[in-house]
Amino acid sequence: MRKLKVGIIGCGNMGYSILEGIISLLPSRNIFVSDKKKSVLRKIKESGVNICSNKEVAENSEIIIIAVKPQDIEEVLKDIKDKIDPSKTIISIAAGVKIKKIEKFLNWKIPVIRVMPNLCVKVKEGIIAYSCGKFAKGKGKIVESLFSRLGIVFEIDEKKMDLITAISGSGPGYIFYFAEIFEKICRKEGLKSGISGEIVSQLFYGAGKMIKEMKKPKKLKEEVCSPGGTTIEGIKVFEKYNLERIFEEVIEKAKKRSEELSN
Ligand SMILES: NC(=O)c1ccc[n+]([C@@H]2O[C@H](COP(=O)([O-])OP(=O)(O)OC[C@H]3O[C@@H](n4cnc5c(N)ncnc54)[C@H](OP(=O)(O)O)[C@@H]3O)[C@@H](O)[C@H]2O)c1
Repeated sequence: MRKLKVGIIGCGNMGYSILEGIISLLPSRNIFVSDKKKSVLRKIKESGVNICSNKEVAENSEIIIIAVKPQDIEEVLKDIKDKIDPSKTIISIAAGVKIKKIEKFLNWKIPVIRVMPNLCVKVKEGIIAYSCGKFAKGKGKIVESLFSRLGIVFEIDEKKMDLITAISGSGPGYIFYFAEIFEKICRKEGLKSGISGEIVSQLFYGAGKMIKEMKKPKKLKEEVCSPGGTTIEGIKVFEKYNLERIFEEVIEKAKKRSEELSN
């Protein structure tokens, strides 16, 4: 693993978090990074990795992680096409870009792996799903090692990528939205903004940690809901408005949008 040469093309939000994850696994001389933005490259330079052009990243790396926006992926593939051969593996994190599209573009029997990380890789608590293309069978272990410092990593059928996008890709956005509402209510009820923020962040952090450690949300909920108590009164309101149905619709809509974007 430590001898592996890995490249990252596009080192913005996601690419930089991936770099932070792999920098502890590989010597920096084995990491090759490119980006369009000078400011991004200045920030990366301090880490001691090799700063190069897209072509040089492709030339020097065995694993090439493409972390540009979906609309920029074709430009990158055009750039690196003649530097790629079947001994290299392409990992794309572009949301909605199917493995077939990349394989077709490269015109070669190139191993391609599609990865769907979520924003929480920024705090190394991400959810990272991946699917291997037909020329990348058995190469999943590389993804599991490279992304291991960034959260949980698992393989799924590519057909389930839209569902994963709707649940774990968009998921942090839903949770931030709930936190925003809780904060608003705290302030409306007269709490100062600073303490409102602290209460809400600790609430989500603590409850999240309990679910993570005990893995039984139903049982945990029942423990809080003592008969005749306060929580059960609140839960009854969720039930009155059929929150479960609302959540189902949220996931349905996000999944449909993901399908539209990838077609
Ligand atoms: N953010 C998320 O929660 C999330 C979750 C899952 C997957 N993703 C996927 O992750 C990918 C990256 O997203 P991001 O939020 O990290 O984007 P980002 O912050 O915009 O980073 C992309 C970087 O790539 C650079 N770039 C663009 N074209 C390039 C090219 N031809 N050659 C080299 N560098 C180039 C961009 O420079 P310019 O800004 O100058 O164009 C930018 O610095 C996207 O495909 C997205 O679908 C994101």
